[in-house]
Amino acid sequence: MLIDSHCHVLSEEYDDPNNIIKETLNSMVDKIIINGYDLKSSIEAVSLSEKYENVYAAIGIGPENVCDINDDIIEKINMLLTSNKVVAIGEIGLDYYWTKENKESQISVFRHMLKIAKKNNLPVIVHCRNAFKDTYDLLKEYNVNGILHCYSGSVEMAKSFIDLGFLLGIGGVITFKNAKELKDVVEKIDIHNLSLETDSPYLSPEPYRGKLNKPENVMLIAKKIAEIKGISLEEVINITGKSVCTKFDL
Ligand code: NI
Repeated sequence: MLIDSHCHVLSEEYDDPNNIIKETLNSMVDKIIINGYDLKSSIEAVSLSEKYENVYAAIGIGPENVCDINDDIIEKINMLLTSNKVVAIGEIGLDYYWTKENKESQISVFRHMLKIAKKNNLPVIVHCRNAFKDTYDLLKEYNVNGILHCYSGSVEMAKSFIDLGFLLGIGGVITFKNAKELKDVVEKIDIHNLSLETDSPYLSPEPYRGKLNKPENVMLIAKKIAEIKGISLEEVINITGKSVCTKFDL
């Protein structure tokens, strides 16, 4: 089963999310998980997921949208959780690449989100950039698992997240010529610990690098992984699809 476990079809880059969803479901892609990143996109992700059978939602407040979490926000998130199409809390996490200045608020929002995941027994979809130590410590503290989205760390770090029960989300970067460290990760880590994702509309794989990304490009990522690992495309699609279905109960 070919699954894009991380896309943002609600991005303003697309004219209409319904069109991109229909196009995706008419391609080789079987299922997608739309990731929210703030309250508005989370609400919209849930309503889209309820409209299409093979579309699921992850909801949460991400590191680029930190805000003061109040009772009103928590109540709205709790209401969204009543939908059985919500399969994860995400995308949430820490990003110290753009700025470290709001580190404390990022951590505070992340803690709130992890608490919700724990309380509702849901997996998480985690964004982590230049913040591996803090992310690891918090995920361990809350004892949650899920997907580490757009994985960009070392093989050693990968193993420690896998020990926590995480899949490593592999996206378009794997097709880039200069992705030496990520290729090393894909080569050395068991396919059972990987998941496929596009992060559409961002991070288009080659040969579309720099252009608008679409969930159907997840096939190009599957092909690249098959090539690097020297296994068949079917194996990559079947094994990663099964892992994601199991992890998120799809
Ligand atoms: Ni994302």
